[in-house]
Amino acid sequence: MRVLITGGAGFIGSYLAETCLEINDEVYIIDNLSTGSLDNLKHLQEDSRYKDRLFVHVDTIFNDKALLELTGTCDVVFHLAAAVGVRYILANPLESIRTNILGTENVLKHCARFKKKVLIASSSEVYGKHLHAPLLETDNIIYGPSSKSRWSYATSKLMDEFIALAYHRTNGLNVFITRLFNTVGPRQSGAYGMVIPRFVSQALHNAPLTVYGDGTQSRTFTYVKDVVRGLRALVDSEAAVGEVFNVGGIQEITMLDLARMIIRKTGSGSRIELIPYDQAFEKDFEDMQRRVPGIEKIKKVIAYDPKTDLETILDHIIAHMKNSAAAQ
Ligand SMILES: NC(=O)c1ccc[n+]([C@@H]2O[C@H](COP(=O)([O-])OP(=O)(O)OC[C@H]3O[C@@H](n4cnc5c(N)ncnc54)[C@H](O)[C@@H]3O)[C@@H](O)[C@H]2O)c1
Repeated sequence: MRVLITGGAGFIGSYLAETCLEINDEVYIIDNLSTGSLDNLKHLQEDSRYKDRLFVHVDTIFNDKALLELTGTCDVVFHLAAAVGVRYILANPLESIRTNILGTENVLKHCARFKKKVLIASSSEVYGKHLHAPLLETDNIIYGPSSKSRWSYATSKLMDEFIALAYHRTNGLNVFITRLFNTVGPRQSGAYGMVIPRFVSQALHNAPLTVYGDGTQSRTFTYVKDVVRGLRALVDSEAAVGEVFNVGGIQEITMLDLARMIIRKTGSGSRIELIPYDQAFEKDFEDMQRRVPGIEKIKKVIAYDPKTDLETILDHIIAHMKNSAAAQ
């Protein structure tokens, strides 16, 4: 199959590219390198097995000419390009909304023109301020006010879902909507507020692990390789067309316990320092207290099995970050 991955030089996109190449897909990538990097693709570009099957275009999803060519060429589009990360969204509020809403509409418009399947990478953020677990695809959604720009990410991703579903209903476009929960693994950047690379970096430098709020907020981390296998399998499922799926793991952990686990696993002398949200982000910042996915729906349509446990995920990330530091 010929696949186009928007945001393919990003963290998840580069793993998806690898999974597709492993099963003999031809892979086309469009990425403007705003938060992604060609370093994420170097090992694939240097692999002789993939020499004639990997094509990387450094460009924006707003370039109609490039999108026209690429969507025309490919059988399926994985739309991952987005402004990502709470810190990035707060620093670039307008550009983030434009990328996540207008950029997605542009990708969908081209897919509709050529009647190409398209998978949308939405986010667990769309659920907003729920406290219950697990979160189900049919749950209501609760956001804070528009004066708090952190909610613009959730809202823009939800808008992507509405636009994609509208294309499905209006044009019969084959869309697949995936709500990714915290997806982690080696190569994820800590620069835009992602917690695990930030904690591991702090632990490896014996610096305090800075936990925001009181540290009782929890997340369910999923290994990136488990996630991308799920995304690739979904687009082959007829039953998944026009549906919304949670894609996440099963092991809930609080940020305090995560920090403790990372200190133990790195053998670090670091201590934990609690930082009020106001100081870490902005005045009256609101976080999501819990984020645990219900994954029964996706398991009904594909053999989705997020089997990599957090200890193993952390082993991979710590080894990668130690190697990268040694190579510098
Ligand atoms: N990492 C997670 O835990 C997580 C959770 C929920 C949803 N997601 C979604 O998954 C997708 C991938 O996220 P990621 O973690 O790999 O982040 P990432 O920042 O590594 O990847 C996003 C990629 O999109 C590219 N991009 C941004 N604007 C672009 C534009 N206008 N044109 C072309 N490329 C552009 C960036 O350069 C980057 O390579 C995003 O849509 C994100 O919202 C990620």
